[in-house]
Amino acid sequence: IAGLFQSDILSGVRVVITAGPTREAIDPVRYISNHSSGKMGFALATAAMEAGARVTLIRGPVNLPDPDRIQCLRVESARDMLEASLQQLGECDIFIAAAAVADYRPLQTADQKIKKSAASDTLELTLVKNPDIVATVAGHEQRPFTVGFAAETQDVENYARHKLQQKNLDIIVANDVSRSDIGFNSDENAVTVFWQQSQQAFGQMSKTTLARELVRLIAQRYRAATE
Ligand code: CTP
Ligand code: CA
Repeated sequence: IAGLFQSDILSGVRVVITAGPTREAIDPVRYISNHSSGKMGFALATAAMEAGARVTLIRGPVNLPDPDRIQCLRVESARDMLEASLQQLGECDIFIAAAAVADYRPLQTADQKIKKSAASDTLELTLVKNPDIVATVAGHEQRPFTVGFAAETQDVENYARHKLQQKNLDIIVANDVSRSDIGFNSDENAVTVFWQQSQQAFGQMSKTTLARELVRLIAQRYRAATE
C-alpha cells in the first residue's frame, strides 16, 4: 500500500478541515443552506491523510461517505461547526476552512412547523449573522496554521487578500465562483492561492489533483512558518 501515499510531507501533523455547507433551521422541517457539495474539503482531507497527516474532517450535511482513515465529525449549523472546530484546537497544527458556512441564520427557529398564512402573501424572516469560524480559530490563543477559502464572483485578488488580512489567515485559496463550469458543485476547480509574500495560480484540474497540489503548498508554507 506504500505506493498509495504520495509522500510523508505532513507526517505526524494534525490537520482539521471543515467541509460542505451548513444548515440553519427555520422550523423543524425547513432550513437555509447553499449548494456546496463538500467535494473540495473531502479531497483535501484525503490528500492530507495520504501525505501522512492525522486528519479530522468536520463535515456539514453532504452526500458523501466518510473517507477511510479520517476521523469524521458530523455537524449541521454554523454554530455546531464552530463548537466542533474549537474542540479540536488542542490537537490541531493546521486548520483548513473549506466549508461554505451560511453567513446568516434565522434569528428564531420555530418549535413547530410554520403554517402558511391565509391573511398574507408574504413572510418575513429576520436573519442574524453567524460567527466567523475561521476568523475565530485564527484569533484563538492556540492558533494553528490557518488556511481559508474565498468564494468570489469579481475582483478576486482584492477581495481574497482583504479576507487574508481581515481574518488573520496564513493562506487563502481563492475560487472564482462566477464560472459555472467549475467550482461549487463540479468535480473540477481552478484557484489562485495568496499569502503574505506571494501567490500561485492553479489551472483547471480535478479536485483530487488540485487537493494534492494544495496540500503540497500548504505543507511548504507551514514548514516555512514553523521553522
Ligand atoms: N467562513 C467561516 N465562517 C463563516 C463564514 C465564512 O469560517 N461564518 C470561512 C469559509 O470557510 C472560508 C472563508 O471564511 O474559508 C471565506 O468565506 P467566504 O464566504 O468567501 O467569505 P465571507 O467572509 O463569508 O465574506 P462574503 O461571503 O461576504 O464574501
Ligand atoms: Ca460567506
